[in-house]
Amino acid sequence: MAKGNRILVWDGALRLFHWSIVLLVAAMWWSAENHMMDWHRRMGMILVGLIVFRLAWGILGSRTSRFTSWRIGPGAILGYLKGLASGAHKPDFGHNPIGTLSVIAMLAALSVQVGTGLFAVDTDGMESGPLAILVSFDAGRQAAEIHEVSFNILVALIGLHVAAVAAYLIFFKDNLIRPMITGRRAREDFEAGETLADSQLSWVRLAISVAIAFAAMWGISNAG
Ligand code: HEM
Ligand code: HEM
Repeated sequence: MAKGNRILVWDGALRLFHWSIVLLVAAMWWSAENHMMDWHRRMGMILVGLIVFRLAWGILGSRTSRFTSWRIGPGAILGYLKGLASGAHKPDFGHNPIGTLSVIAMLAALSVQVGTGLFAVDTDGMESGPLAILVSFDAGRQAAEIHEVSFNILVALIGLHVAAVAAYLIFFKDNLIRPMITGRRAREDFEAGETLADSQLSWVRLAISVAIAFAAMWGISNAG
């Protein structure tokens, strides 16, 4: 998986997922703000598929995408913070322990946002998510209330996320954005032999994850 002096750290599916949610979350805000609820629901269904895909990819994806490879134990976090405090920044192969916490928070907030949107009903019952028909009006209103609160939480987490990425660039001269686009980092940043290759993007696992995502979208579209 080496190309010149750069090695792959993020697989293509993860990168496509990331930049798709960036565009879609912005479009979701825009469509809600401008009362384009048909578009809000349509794009929302794509987001449902993307979130379900990411959860499946957390099990079936390559090393840096898999949840089991994430280090968030107290030891890993303390060790990482000590390293940062001493100014000895060492690039991570994948998410660093603090970054992982923010990733978990963002994926959770996105899941709540999308999940509550499915059941949300507005005050006069004119606009509703595709699964609102399955719950009472009051429950739909509650979902809408949470939808509003979780949007504020999501915006705060995104602000923190972008600020953290900027801080790595400014204070450690570590550009995390380029690897999220190209997938690659300089080989000399890592120990010899470190590689994503032990579980390269396998087309079978990719096909299974995509199929799970489509099944969820299909199930929700047909449940209402
Ligand atoms: C709607 C806005 C955004 C959301 C919801 C979001 C969400 C996420 C998530 C969930 C991840 C973890 C990827 C995964 O393992 O699933 C991530 C990683 C990342 N994001 Fe974003 N992101 C947003 C905007 C941005 C922007 C604008 C930038 C660039 C300035 C950016 C740069 C990155 C980078 C560099 C990583 C990898 C971090 C690392 O090296 O550990 N993100 N983002
Ligand atoms: C990241 C994803 C999403 C974002 C950022 C988002 C954002 C928003 C925002 C800002 C509002 C306006 C809240 C208000 O002030 O009343 C809203 C309302 C709504 N959204 Fe979403 N939404 C998302 C996902 C979804 C999904 C997946 C669905 C359903 C398919 C959905 C259905 C609705 C409905 C029915 C309302 C109207 C509820 C009301 O007016 O109280 N949303 N959304």
